[in-house]
Amino acid sequence: MFVMSIWGTSLSLSSRSLAIALVLCVTLLYISYSFNACLLASISRSLQQSNLRNLLSLTSTPRNESSSNSSSSSNDSATPASNPSTNSSNTTNRSISSVPAAVGIANSSDGSPKYQLLRQPGLRPSRHLPDTLIIGVKKSGTRALLEFIRLHPDVRAAGSEVHFFDRHYQRGLRWYRHHMPYTIEGQITMEKTPSYFVTKEVPQRVYHMNTATKLLIVVRDPVTRAISDYTQAASKKADMKRFEQLAFVNGSYSVVDTNWGPVKIGVYSRYLERWLLYFPLSQLLFISGERLIMDPAYEIGRVQDFLGLKRVVTEKHFYFNATKGFPCLFKSEARSTPHCLGKTKGRNHPHIDPNAIERLREFYRPFNNKFYQLTGINFAWA
Ligand code: A3P
Repeated sequence: MFVMSIWGTSLSLSSRSLAIALVLCVTLLYISYSFNACLLASISRSLQQSNLRNLLSLTSTPRNESSSNSSSSSNDSATPASNPSTNSSNTTNRSISSVPAAVGIANSSDGSPKYQLLRQPGLRPSRHLPDTLIIGVKKSGTRALLEFIRLHPDVRAAGSEVHFFDRHYQRGLRWYRHHMPYTIEGQITMEKTPSYFVTKEVPQRVYHMNTATKLLIVVRDPVTRAISDYTQAASKKADMKRFEQLAFVNGSYSVVDTNWGPVKIGVYSRYLERWLLYFPLSQLLFISGERLIMDPAYEIGRVQDFLGLKRVVTEKHFYFNATKGFPCLFKSEARSTPHCLGKTKGRNHPHIDPNAIERLREFYRPFNNKFYQLTGINFAWA
């Protein structure tokens, strides 16, 4: 009986310790399973993060390289005065901060991010048809406008006047695009040919290229513009007649010669009406040639707003050169030292008989009023 009770007790003891050992084992297994699961999750998380970081840094580097490639490529390109200013820190910052694009690449399901990176449009500099045209008006300050706006790192412009829509249209858009500078995504391609404004076929042709083309038009008092136009022509022809002889029929001031180019171009409303058949006023920006001289930063501010650009070009870029009598640049894409536009810009005008000037003012008055009406801007030309 005694032996039986001892055996019974030891049996119940050993089964209890067995149960305890079993519980301990299960607990240990659970703890080790949880620990491993946590460890694996954390390892995989940090691997993902480091992959993403690598991708972002990979992405940043080629975008920067692209922007500098863009500059160097375009320096080598057919357009001589391409835009080295895209090397500026502004562009670099802009490219680096383009993280959304990079995240897009990292999230892609392809699994070969480097190759995807190369395929991203916009990372490689390429030539594009212009988004924006400076269409005129000749001798109103079109060169100044172009030189000022191309200080912006997001604007790249063809250096010389391409004359595609008026002289070389038959060569086709491919030819035209080849004359554009290299750009990367986000940069505006611009071209200036002042004769576009007055050439009959051009509005329709530009419309056919791109209905959304933005048009910049610098205008100036048509009398001063005519004298400027004449001064330029006279500088190329030694035996040029006097302005007064050319601007009027039969030498008297009664009949204005509206067939003479310098006079004809000043009838802005006539040309504008043609453009308005194809483009809404909202796609046109009128820049005052007078104000571009008096307050270039103000006008360039308006242009930047119109083009949806950050206001990067400000009064800090300009200084007034008293000798030249015009605003000049501290630096530009072509030169890093202070300089003014060339000798052909800001010429001295010859003396013109005040009576001739008065007669021309009278002639232009109704056309100017029509122009103010069409544009909704009173330029206050006398
Ligand atoms: P003038 O040379 O008759 O003074 P465009 O570039 O369209 O041919 O226009 C030339 C005109 O731009 C010049 O005419 C001048 O008046 C004007 N202009 C405006 N800003 C200027 C600047 N900063 N330097 C020189 N000329 C400027």
